[in-house]
Amino acid sequence: MNAKIIDGRKLAEATRTEIAEGVAALKRDCGVTPGLAVVLVGDNPASVSYVTAKAKACRETGMLSREIRMPADAREPEVLAQVKALDDDPAIHGILVQLPLPAGISEKNVIDAISPEKDVDGFTPVNVGRMVIGDRCFLPCTPHGILKLIEVSGMDVSGRHVVVVGRSNIVGKPMAMLLARKGRCANATVTLCHTGTPDISVHTRMADVVVVAAGRPGTLTGDMLKPGAVVIDVGVNRVPDASKPKGYRLCGDADFNSCAEVASAITPVPGGVGPMTITMLLWNTLEAARRIVGVQDAR
Ligand code: GUN
Repeated sequence: MNAKIIDGRKLAEATRTEIAEGVAALKRDCGVTPGLAVVLVGDNPASVSYVTAKAKACRETGMLSREIRMPADAREPEVLAQVKALDDDPAIHGILVQLPLPAGISEKNVIDAISPEKDVDGFTPVNVGRMVIGDRCFLPCTPHGILKLIEVSGMDVSGRHVVVVGRSNIVGKPMAMLLARKGRCANATVTLCHTGTPDISVHTRMADVVVVAAGRPGTLTGDMLKPGAVVIDVGVNRVPDASKPKGYRLCGDADFNSCAEVASAITPVPGGVGPMTITMLLWNTLEAARRIVGVQDAR
């Protein structure tokens, strides 16, 4: 293997220590404990594990964590009423509704029910619009975490060609937008590939950095890379594996072994992007609490 491993766990740990210090300072100086509410509708196994991990990480930094679980057959008005109650609750500074929602519940309506000031996922149209024009906002957690990973790995993406694979609202679209902005850890030339791209390898072979967020194992293989490229793997896929206690193993969208032969650096799955996604959620929640009490960000 040639590639350096970009260690998301290590960066997440260091960043969470910094966040915990910020939480302690806010409690000490203002008597305010940042509060995050996480809403899960249904029992999708991957969502259950994400939500559990988010709530645990939240408590570990000293924040208030409120977990709301609703049955898979909950109706949209019930979910909207729950979100509205959290939006009106002064102990809650950030609200996250885990996606996807069960069929029959409009994600748009639910996201629209969250105030931009409590939208720590950065999914509301107001925050998305602010992100696009470069105003102060809450950045979506996965792209925000990837920017941090790129920054600490010492890579300068300015003027480089970044190919993003996948056009989701959660990762692909905001990632492409953030990397193309002017400024630090940005200023890249960005190509956004998606299911309508006839042959993504035509683009990935020209990339200095590939961010793969397609939700499909094996989307990126070593032969699709330029030697020395950097691979950021956002995929978290459960692959059946009878040798594992849970009966499955996790793998990314990139074929790790073949990509690591050609790339100069790669994020592993697990232990790469995932821990940073949760960390940036905590970061945004602390920031939301600071803004609500009118404390300037000291960072
Ligand atoms: N589902 C997958 N990723 C995310 C995320 O970052 N936030 C929310 N709310 N749902 C998700």
